[in-house]
Amino acid sequence: MMDKRTVVEAKTVFQSSIDLDAKTRAQYYNNWAEHYEKDHALLGYRSPYLAVEFLNGNFQGSREDALVLDVACGTGWVAKLMRDLGFRHFVGVDGSEGMLAKARMTGLYQELKQTLLGSEPLPAQPDAYDIVMIAGAQDAGFVPVSACRELCCAAKPGGLVCMSRGHHTDVKSQEYTRDLEQEIQRMEVEGLWRQVGIHRTNIYMKNPHVDLQKDTEKTPAIPGTVYLYQKCQP
Ligand SMILES: C[S@@+](CC[C@H](N)C(=O)[O-])C[C@H]1O[C@@H](n2cnc3c(N)ncnc32)[C@H](O)[C@@H]1O
Repeated sequence: MMDKRTVVEAKTVFQSSIDLDAKTRAQYYNNWAEHYEKDHALLGYRSPYLAVEFLNGNFQGSREDALVLDVACGTGWVAKLMRDLGFRHFVGVDGSEGMLAKARMTGLYQELKQTLLGSEPLPAQPDAYDIVMIAGAQDAGFVPVSACRELCCAAKPGGLVCMSRGHHTDVKSQEYTRDLEQEIQRMEVEGLWRQVGIHRTNIYMKNPHVDLQKDTEKTPAIPGTVYLYQKCQP
């Protein structure tokens, strides 16, 4: 039987996640894994597309040979898009076993590791990856700002770190954005990485907090940013 989802159902699940701590959030994603991609399509979620497009336009190495670390890989959306562009080698990390089970079904990842970032270190050798991707997972209650250094550490010198995230309007998200952007700049001043480019968009996803029929004064979409950095040579 066709499993039809509606925008209202997708928004309801999305809104029920606000204010969860990281551990409860992993459980929440276990429960959402089955409907995650359908619901996010209904929500107009563009994070994986924005990340992959920006990365691909700035990547100059061999796509076939590049080793990609997909952090907070979820169901494997990022790897599926990158595969279509010729990338072949993926390692995935996520806190939710349910999401990892979906990622495993893609057959794209040579390794998938369950890790709750913030509570546990990123399971990656230093200087190991040509590309480190993280899409849709940098926000309050998700992957903490402190993990940013671990992403950089996992990249090879000269490797790229691509971070794609939405700017939700609640106070905690705004604080996260401020702290993340400060940390990104600090790392640049420390000579850990250099900026390749920043892509800002007004349409990262539909505003999941708005019922457009009743709430027309609010913006229909939330903005987002893709940050692309290159790890410096030691
Ligand atoms: C919105 S989904 C994004 C998944 C995928 N990158 C995409 O764009 O479709 C957020 C993902 O981050 C994971 N996540 C959230 N907090 C995490 C944490 N602290 N450590 C590891 N994974 C986390 C969730 O389990 C979920 O799979």
